[in-house]
Amino acid sequence: MHPARFWRSTPFRLAVAYAFLFVTSSLLVYSVTYVLLRKEVYAALDASVEETYSVLQSTYSPGDVADLLKTLETFSRLEKGDMRVFYLGTPDGRRLAGNAGAFKNAKGVETVTAADLGLSTDDRFRIVTGMLDGNRLLVGQSLEATEDLAQIIFSSFAWMSFATSLLAVAAGIYLGLRAQKRIDAIAQTMNEISDGHLARRVHLTGRGDDIDVISGQINAALDRLSDLMEGMRRVSADIAHDLKTPLNRLKLILEDAAIRENSGNPVGQQLQEALEESDHINATFEALLRISQIEAGARKSRFTTLDMKHIFENVADIFAGVAEDNSQSIVFSADAEASFPIEGDKELLTQLVVNLVENAINHCPARTRITLSVRRLDGRYVAAVEDNGPGIEEGERDKVFRRLYRLDKSRNSPGNGLGLSMVKAIADLHGLTVTIEDCNPGARFLIVWSGRSQPN
Ligand SMILES: Nc1ncnc2c1ncn2[C@@H]1O[C@H](COP(=O)(O)OP(=O)(O)O)[C@@H](O)[C@H]1O
Ligand SMILES: [Mg+2]
Repeated sequence: MHPARFWRSTPFRLAVAYAFLFVTSSLLVYSVTYVLLRKEVYAALDASVEETYSVLQSTYSPGDVADLLKTLETFSRLEKGDMRVFYLGTPDGRRLAGNAGAFKNAKGVETVTAADLGLSTDDRFRIVTGMLDGNRLLVGQSLEATEDLAQIIFSSFAWMSFATSLLAVAAGIYLGLRAQKRIDAIAQTMNEISDGHLARRVHLTGRGDDIDVISGQINAALDRLSDLMEGMRRVSADIAHDLKTPLNRLKLILEDAAIRENSGNPVGQQLQEALEESDHINATFEALLRISQIEAGARKSRFTTLDMKHIFENVADIFAGVAEDNSQSIVFSADAEASFPIEGDKELLTQLVVNLVENAINHCPARTRITLSVRRLDGRYVAAVEDNGPGIEEGERDKVFRRLYRLDKSRNSPGNGLGLSMVKAIADLHGLTVTIEDCNPGARFLIVWSGRSQPN
């Protein structure tokens, strides 16, 4: 990826933000810990000075200066490198004992230089002073070890901060790059798909993280999209193939007419046939267009609450005469249920029932009994159109819903193979399921919809 794009990418910006947060918070923790530790070691030094002073003070028995002198001399002798200093002297400045050369008065615990105590080093000391039986006592301790300790604490915290920051930034860049790589892979897949490689899918790591979830959803959408594309491709191929037959027929009729015309024969009948053929082609195109429009779903805005019972009853009434002319009969029956509500488009639902009834009339022989019914079953509504005609074989029950698909035995009955495609499109639009069952003999078309939730 181009570096400029990496700086602007979400993973990198997130990584920088988290690294910044991490570094700031650890700096804060380190600083607070440093300040507290430093205070603690200085307090410990003061406590030690005060303790030494009070030990000397409390072990001194009044009048026994000699004992105190001995103790101080021992303390001073044991002290290496003048870490601890002692001084005992008279108020007029005469030194009696200790390793310090001079006295300096202090209120509480105070910091003084080596020079103040008559010493030649460049140390500083914390001292406590007081009067002991008329003599001046001074106890002190060098700050050097404590300052060294504070320095060590400071530099170790400084190094820790540096290392933490480095680690945070490095980890941020690493994680950012890793996330970016996966996002780039998704973008790459999408590019390949727009270049026409429809079978490409986003690779899943199997970790189930958010990028995996989104990738899975993208893949599902791509699957559906390519199914749709495949369906469209097949439909267009089928339509082109199936329309060739009537167009060829039209051509043959017109050729025949031309030959007859040349030999001076009348062509009225051929022209009439050509007109019928072109009407048929026209009707097929119109039906195809109508199915596409229904599938596009624009008519959903015209949905109202209807009663399926009325629609079925109405169609049964209208076609009773047609069936009778064919020596067939139509019977309508309904449950005692008051109504069979459905959200839908009245014209389309009527068309659906008409197509089923027309099929029963057209594809079944004389004396067929056609039954229309609406019932309530297990909380759902079931409407059926059934006949006792030849039926539809199990292997054909899915195929008859395809555009332009007709069973071989129906080649000579009227129709263009689009009636059931329209039934399917209307049913899909209304959220209805349509299934075909065996009626032994005959076919039963079942339309089922839920009694409670209607699509809107
Ligand atoms: N009630 C039925 N009984 C037997 N076959 C049927 C019935 N309904 C439909 N079919 C078969 O399904 C095919 C597709 O039906 P359809 O899409 O309505 O097309 P069309 O009626 O124009 O042929 C019909 O050609 C017919 O072979
Ligand atoms: Mg039909």
